[in-house]
Amino acid sequence: MSSELSTPDVESNGGTENRAYVQSQSDCRLPMASLPRTTSDLTPINRTNSVTNNSISPNLVANIYTKERQASVLDPMSDRVSTILVWQNLIVSTRGDKKNKFHLPDIKRSKGSGPTSKVLLHNLSGAITGGLWAVMGPSGSGKSTLLNTLACRLDVNTVVQGEMRLNGAQYNNAELKRLSGYVMQDDMLNGYLSVEETLMYTAELRLPREFTYKQRRERVEEVITDLGLTHVRKAIIGLRTKQGISGSERKRLCVGMQLLNRPQLLFLDEPTTGLDSVTALDLLHTLHALAHGRSQDKAVTVVCSIHQPQSKIFNLFDSLILLKNGYTIYQGPRKQAMEVFHSAGFPCPLYTNPADHLLDVITPPRAGESHLSEEQQAAIDAALVNAQTPIQIDLKMGENKRIQQMANLPSNPLWIKQIEILFRRNMREQFRKLDVLAISLLQSIIMAVLIGTVFLQIGQSQSSIIRREPVAFFCSINQGVFGALMVINSFPVERALTLRERASGTYFASAYFTAKIIADTLVQLPVPIIFSCIVYFLVGFDLVVSKFFIFVLLIILCSVASTSIALMISAICKTTDMSVTVLPMVLEVSRLFGGFFLAPAFLPKYFAWLDGISYIKYSFVGVALTELQGLRLTCEDVKMIAYNATMSIPGNCTRTGEEIIQRQGYDSLSIGGCIAILFAFIIFCRAWAFIGVRFLKN
Ligand SMILES: Nc1ncnc2c1ncn2[C@@H]1O[C@H](COP(=O)(O)OP(=O)(O)OP(=O)(O)O)[C@@H](O)[C@H]1O
Ligand SMILES: [Mg+2]
Repeated sequence: MSSELSTPDVESNGGTENRAYVQSQSDCRLPMASLPRTTSDLTPINRTNSVTNNSISPNLVANIYTKERQASVLDPMSDRVSTILVWQNLIVSTRGDKKNKFHLPDIKRSKGSGPTSKVLLHNLSGAITGGLWAVMGPSGSGKSTLLNTLACRLDVNTVVQGEMRLNGAQYNNAELKRLSGYVMQDDMLNGYLSVEETLMYTAELRLPREFTYKQRRERVEEVITDLGLTHVRKAIIGLRTKQGISGSERKRLCVGMQLLNRPQLLFLDEPTTGLDSVTALDLLHTLHALAHGRSQDKAVTVVCSIHQPQSKIFNLFDSLILLKNGYTIYQGPRKQAMEVFHSAGFPCPLYTNPADHLLDVITPPRAGESHLSEEQQAAIDAALVNAQTPIQIDLKMGENKRIQQMANLPSNPLWIKQIEILFRRNMREQFRKLDVLAISLLQSIIMAVLIGTVFLQIGQSQSSIIRREPVAFFCSINQGVFGALMVINSFPVERALTLRERASGTYFASAYFTAKIIADTLVQLPVPIIFSCIVYFLVGFDLVVSKFFIFVLLIILCSVASTSIALMISAICKTTDMSVTVLPMVLEVSRLFGGFFLAPAFLPKYFAWLDGISYIKYSFVGVALTELQGLRLTCEDVKMIAYNATMSIPGNCTRTGEEIIQRQGYDSLSIGGCIAILFAFIIFCRAWAFIGVRFLKN
């Protein structure tokens, strides 16, 4: 087709009278006369005389449609279009105050009240009516904001005013989640699972509960084939630090996860970010195929925000919404955009990417020859808006499709089933992290052997008195520290992923949390058990079966308490830096008031509350009570003790463990009491962790 293009006399005239022809394939194919050649040549044209101020009139922007000019290349009334999304007089602004940090359900979309600091979208009206849509505009023009507003995913710090209708009816987040998919700009995936596993778990969680295993598997196979993921189906996704599948494959997988339950509407925020031109084009071909599905039930309305696509990608879009500073500059079929720009006085120059041209016109370079004043730029924007014949937005559009749509709403698996699926997924992930598990076991064995050999066979002499308590204390403070650090390190990433999955309506926060607690506890158990077995026999604690099991239980509880504290801190603190600062302080305080450095009997009254919240104290006192109760001591080395230590009065032999218990004040607690308090402590920390997971968004 390029042969049809005669090189225009653009060079010869050199001024605003140039004649230009525009490129084939793209929309820039019209011969244009007497028009400026580049944005640098532009001066506000006559049409803009109607614009009296520097900003675009909101009324002008609101009425973009005409009866003659379709919003989309597809007829919205046709059966192929199952979803029509209409918005009218949409104003999105940020709140002035910073009070509502918590994601409470009832304030999710409070309207209009409170001081506002910045308007992000200015009185927009429009409709999405089937096909592949591009939301284009310069950086900061409000593309993501528009997408998030329509997908009910805005920050709680924003206020939405105006009307939004899905097939003629108001909609909420929950309903939209079941009808639509949303692929975020940055793909966030579980790096330990394979492509196939990720899709299969998502299918289990998101497909209606009535689906059989075979049907889910078929759906996964279909998505793998449709998105060209067959060659990497068994590949582990990988982490940033660990090579996995490629960026394009990650993006495809994210799209695939959203396609599993066949959404009627698919939002993608900058799907081509980070992809090279070939893979970006590849992905857009896939999206185009989805939007023009082979069979009727596979036609998905796809809305992508995209910054500046290459021409081949641009030509795949059916319709276009062009934004600038939160205003709509153009909305309608992609092919008509060039005509509108042409009639406004901005034809696409020869060999220019039409997408580049559109953006160049609305955002010329800020410096250099082509610099335009704000007034001139506002006049250009107004000229573009004026070139489009305004029409009315009908909020009732698509009402007839609603009944069919509601009948097809999927029902997620039951809560208990979600726990089971998430538990399996969690366990699989844990087993992929075997190296971490092995290191934590090894660390535990090394510490157990060290403690066991330092305090080897302490016996029942007087010297064992001053060795029995340190060993009990060391056993307690050693527990769960490694696990706690692991939680602080890994939980923020896990939470971000969970927030994404929950935003897509994949599962309940409570189901995720329950599954996580069960899986984490099970994986953690071998560490304190192995530690206890090694230490108990090396140190030579009292060989009574009940004492041994109580010792193991106390060590397990201490270990779980430690990781529970870390989980609570990690869930409540907004950043990893904050968690990393708070956790060591809490652990240190717990150690200080752990009952060893200062026995409960000698603790100042004003520190009693700190003493009360130190989980280490209950573990230590519990272990000490277990060992000391019923213990008989010999008096052979009584003189040596009197000489070397302060624990015994010279010549005074301590004969029973009970004497030590009384002297140190351990009798203020019982073994059962210590166990109960540790249980309560774990429940308390986990309850707060759940509150953090459920209500804290960032
Ligand atoms: N929650 C918020 N609070 C304050 N300002 C916001 C908020 N969300 C968006 N903005 C501002 O609104 C404007 C539009 O942001 P948005 O992310 O929608 O732009 P965008 O067109 O998607 O840009 P990009 O191409 O860079 O992704 C920006 O100036 C941004 O700083
Ligand atoms: Mg964006």
